[in-house]
Amino acid sequence: MSSEVLKVDDLTCGYGDRPVLKGLSFSVEDGELLGVIGPNGSGKTTLVRALTKILEPMDGRILLEGRDIKEMDLSELARRIAVVSQNPEGGSWMTVEEFVLLGRVPHRRKFQLLETKHDEEVAERAMALTGTLGLKGRLLKELSGGERQLVSIAKALCQEPKLLLLDEPTAHLDIAHQVRVLDLIKKLNRDDGLTAITVLHDLNLAGEYCDRLLLLKDGKLCRTGLPEEVLDPRVIEDAYGVKVVVGRNPASSKPYVFPIPNAK
Ligand SMILES: Nc1ncnc2c1ncn2[C@@H]1O[C@H](COP(=O)(O)OP(=O)(O)O)[C@@H](O)[C@H]1O
Ligand SMILES: [Mg+2]
Repeated sequence: MSSEVLKVDDLTCGYGDRPVLKGLSFSVEDGELLGVIGPNGSGKTTLVRALTKILEPMDGRILLEGRDIKEMDLSELARRIAVVSQNPEGGSWMTVEEFVLLGRVPHRRKFQLLETKHDEEVAERAMALTGTLGLKGRLLKELSGGERQLVSIAKALCQEPKLLLLDEPTAHLDIAHQVRVLDLIKKLNRDDGLTAITVLHDLNLAGEYCDRLLLLKDGKLCRTGLPEEVLDPRVIEDAYGVKVVVGRNPASSKPYVFPIPNAK
């Protein structure tokens, strides 16, 4: 049996009649942590939108566990894919617990309005895993950016997805919160076998945490492979148009990209 969770097959997708992603193909294996990188405007968020059916493919297919997502309704899709978006918004008047419980909505049966004991247990576990249980009675609007991001991850986990998608989950966070969020994703991936795709614009964090990277340029696949294969000076120079040297993080031996300033 194939252990492929996701297969993106010759996907072309965009806005109006303008394609952004052009003939993109890749797949994700069960248990993989894939990092998507690429310059601003290269189509990373557009890919997340296509995977969640916010955008319809102009061409090509997206298969989730072998089935075309166009045959799934949104609630079926939400039982399989959960998203942590770039700027989580909405729900600011809710408590953390109420917000996290929204993750159970796709699992509710028809006409079921209230959450069950099981829903509450799943939410509790998601908050415990993300270290947000202590915040459960707090209003979302009273949280810091870092806390809010952890709560967004708790809500996504509460969906019990097969695949977790994150769009720049560490944007606007300080270094301590960046590490906390990515350590959490790594731990869920390693210990619970959660398959995840995360868009990251920080190349060094991407190289540090992900099993494999996928580099987009102008909506096309520029390179995919191990972090050391993608974070290659020539590849980065070609994609980003900036000169870099690549060293190793002395603590982890993972590739580390240093830009070379043009200014003297
Ligand atoms: N809602 C939209 N309507 C029209 N064009 C968009 C929209 N969102 C993004 N784009 C365009 O699509 C391209 C890719 O954007 P995006 O996927 O957000 O890139 P990234 O996340 O890699 O920075 C950009 O040229 C952007 O201007
Ligand atoms: Mg983006």
